[in-house]
Amino acid sequence: MWVQDRSRHGRTSETPRPGASHQPRAKQRAFCIAALEEGDDLSELRELLRTAGVAVVGQVVQHREQPHPNTYLGPGKIEEVKALAKAADANVVACDDELSPRQERNLEKALEMPVVDRTTVILDIFAGHAHSAEGKLQVELAQLEYNMARMRGLWTHLDRLGVGGVGTRGPGETQIETDRRLARNRIAALRRRLAGVRGSRDTMRAERERSSLPEVALAGYTNAGKSTLLSALTGAEVGIRDRLFHTLDPTTRTLRLNGRPYLITDTVGFIRKLPHQLVDAFGATLEETRRAELIVHVIDASASEDDMAAMMHAVDEVLDEIGAGGNPRMLVFNKADRIDDDRRRELSRLHPDSVVVSALEQTGLDELRERIERDFEGRLRSVELLLPYAEGARLAELHASVGDLQREDRPDGVLIHARVPEAIAERYARFAVSASRGEPA
Ligand code: GTP
Repeated sequence: MWVQDRSRHGRTSETPRPGASHQPRAKQRAFCIAALEEGDDLSELRELLRTAGVAVVGQVVQHREQPHPNTYLGPGKIEEVKALAKAADANVVACDDELSPRQERNLEKALEMPVVDRTTVILDIFAGHAHSAEGKLQVELAQLEYNMARMRGLWTHLDRLGVGGVGTRGPGETQIETDRRLARNRIAALRRRLAGVRGSRDTMRAERERSSLPEVALAGYTNAGKSTLLSALTGAEVGIRDRLFHTLDPTTRTLRLNGRPYLITDTVGFIRKLPHQLVDAFGATLEETRRAELIVHVIDASASEDDMAAMMHAVDEVLDEIGAGGNPRMLVFNKADRIDDDRRRELSRLHPDSVVVSALEQTGLDELRERIERDFEGRLRSVELLLPYAEGARLAELHASVGDLQREDRPDGVLIHARVPEAIAERYARFAVSASRGEPA
């Protein structure tokens, strides 16, 4: 995959492969590196690599306040990594941070091995998981934009091959310029196509808005169990795998609570240091979250205290970044089956408004349903409507969007008492009757 040819990202038949000098490898064996202030936990990078189908054969962490600006790690540590990676038979070095093009180039040169950074790994996973037309275009755009900045890096490969020379105009430079031009053209074409696809999404959304159903979005760190929860709540089949970012395209299902329908959407999982290209690229997808009247923040209750805090913080940050920071929020601790009673009680004590559930074992779901209902209850308006018999279709429509309602057949139509969302109350305003006189308002 990416380690053979970094330029593969976003490459199509229209874009050439400027860095196609590496030989294909049957199996990726990654050696992980990180510059951290403290600790040596690279479990998330390992998990990301596993999701990308790459084996991890070792790791080295250097403790330093800041990564080295030119080489990410210091010179001594690089020598150590080089020896250890070689001994472990690694064929790629994976870095837990996003590298600047210069750091990446220098590291590759020093380690004599391809180097990938965290962003490249995440982009690669996204590329493999995008299914909808929009998702694919978004990932390709993000990859191309990320790699545009790195074409300078590819230059050195050409340089090493004697194809061109830095600072001279030669075949190498011409190639780079051609690549950049083609990439720019491709980026422009992708943006146009995305705008087209988004147009049709807007149409779909406008239709949903007309139906005015309350909207709930599931948000949470990748692998928290959002998809499992969505299917446990709605009974719908949703893709679930023990892999990061299994869900990329938003999946919207109808959740019925006491007959009243709600739209509930599962969106892309968040992650610490989510590449900015992806936040931008998935802005439209994350829009579902921004619009939601209630964001259910799903948290893996089985994570350690520190991990949980870091993951919750990462989710808060992304929510802020996409403009959903102020939306009403509910905390749901999932995977309760993996913790003991003491921990369950502790979580409830620390977060009194939270709900503790196990999507897998389907426990705590009734309480969650109740809480969602209660949350929306306050925003409903009581209405009394008189729908003439000739408006039978409207009655059916009202039934579909508010679920249970009280009805009474009168000579001049059906009298209805219901609690409805504001938008529906407005839509049916012309049928409203004043309770005392029972006449159209
Ligand atoms: P992304 O698509 O990465 O955002 O993941 P997600 O949050 O949608 O998680 P998903 O539902 O795909 O679940 C991830 C893993 O956690 C799967 O292996 C699930 O079976 C497991 N899982 C989900 N809910 C529970 C739970 O309540 N208990 C346990 N033990 N495992 C769970």
